[in-house]
Amino acid sequence: MKIFNLFPLTVMKDKIIVEDKERNLLVSEIFKMKEQKYKNENSNFAWTGDTNGYEFLFSNNLFKNLSNKISNVIINYLKTLEINTDSLDIYYQRSWATFTESEQSINFHTHSQSNISFAYYLLKPPGSGGIIFKSNELQNEIAKNIFTTSKIEKSLINKANAYNSDKSMFDLEQDSIIIFPSKTPHATAPNKSGKTRISISGDITIMLKNSNGFEHLMPNFKSWTKF
Ligand SMILES: [Fe+2]
Repeated sequence: MKIFNLFPLTVMKDKIIVEDKERNLLVSEIFKMKEQKYKNENSNFAWTGDTNGYEFLFSNNLFKNLSNKISNVIINYLKTLEINTDSLDIYYQRSWATFTESEQSINFHTHSQSNISFAYYLLKPPGSGGIIFKSNELQNEIAKNIFTTSKIEKSLINKANAYNSDKSMFDLEQDSIIIFPSKTPHATAPNKSGKTRISISGDITIMLKNSNGFEHLMPNFKSWTKF
């Protein structure tokens, strides 16, 4: 007997080592941003730079070295999907920091305006909250909602595994980066460490260098007409 798992969701994990000196510099820069624009004091939800006026982090030169390293990982992700990166122009469309204090988390959401998204863990104490991915279209869902948590509680499902789960959590260590399709719903688990967790997130847009003969992929914006 052999099991074939078809049509996967590909999530890539890699490691980017940042020297302590650089890490301290970036962390203090993010602290400054958060202090200047913190609308949600005592909120259950993490502070995210994208909705607080800091959605172009990589245009700040301090983040240049890190963004260059992240670019290499993104290229590897595209190559894993056998996408010919020579045919593409690839852009960081947005990039921002997330700042999560004790018990805070981020609800499920997607980044539907982009193609690929990532999270890099600049400051990630143990227990400060993993990233949870969710599927809205389970390939194996042979009956509607048969794999929900309550079906495990009622012993209809013996145990959750990769074949029957609609959620999967990665609780990665500091300096890890995780890459995934932007359309994938994701959330973060509450920070139970009592310490601050800081991640750098970003959205990537890909477009054809030359759209001649292509119907559906994004043509290069340099050929668009503004009105
Ligand atoms: Fe996100």
